[in-house]
Amino acid sequence: MENKRVYSIAIDGPAGAGKSTLARQLARRLGFVYVDTGAIYRTVGYHMTLMGIGPRDADGVRRLLDDVNLQISYDQAGRQHMLLNGADVSEEIRTPEMSRVASLISAQPPVRAFLLDMQRDIARENSVVMDGRDIGTVVLPKADVKIYLTATDEVRANRRLKELLDQGQKTNLDTVLREIRQRDQQDLTRAIAPLRQAKDAVVADTSTLNLEESLALLERIVQEKIGQ
Ligand code: DC
Repeated sequence: MENKRVYSIAIDGPAGAGKSTLARQLARRLGFVYVDTGAIYRTVGYHMTLMGIGPRDADGVRRLLDDVNLQISYDQAGRQHMLLNGADVSEEIRTPEMSRVASLISAQPPVRAFLLDMQRDIARENSVVMDGRDIGTVVLPKADVKIYLTATDEVRANRRLKELLDQGQKTNLDTVLREIRQRDQQDLTRAIAPLRQAKDAVVADTSTLNLEESLALLERIVQEKIGQ
């Protein structure tokens, strides 16, 4: 029987570096499945919030994890949708509050263990571009390509501000910059699977690049590694 080769591309980096947009577009160009793992953590956080459980409540979170039924689906543009117990919560998980909750809840060991197999299973069966914080270091340590995507705090905050304003949310640059720095701090300093550049990752700094240029850079990195 023919052994189908699947490829995995891991993209990690801090909040607002452009991971989701770039990973999705890269996946579309390559014909790979795009997996936004941050959305999965956000959905777990959203479930706990609905149930009245705070993200620091370790016992409550552990107790309710088994009730979380997560499914991932994709629309025609290749956008990932998160289904929580059958309901599409893709918009609800995009608020600054859910960013904060996801970052805190992702530091809880049972949550990371709960999601690890799910992420690996997807990559076992499909060629993927997977973005997150620990994809190249923990989830897919043997990924064919590892990219650490980053940009200065100010650039990341400005991009995130634009996204939030486009969504109709009321906020300003100072608030977004403060939230991004706080989240980076939490994601970098947690005990398990903190945000870290894998030893064999290629750094892509997009501070001075627009979307097209950033995508071209990622395509060059992928091309060099796997000739796709
Ligand atoms: O990528 P994002 O901003 O949607 O992620 C939300 C939070 O989820 C992030 O602050 C930390 C957590 N996360 C994680 O711990 N590991 C991942 N692979 C992806 C996200």
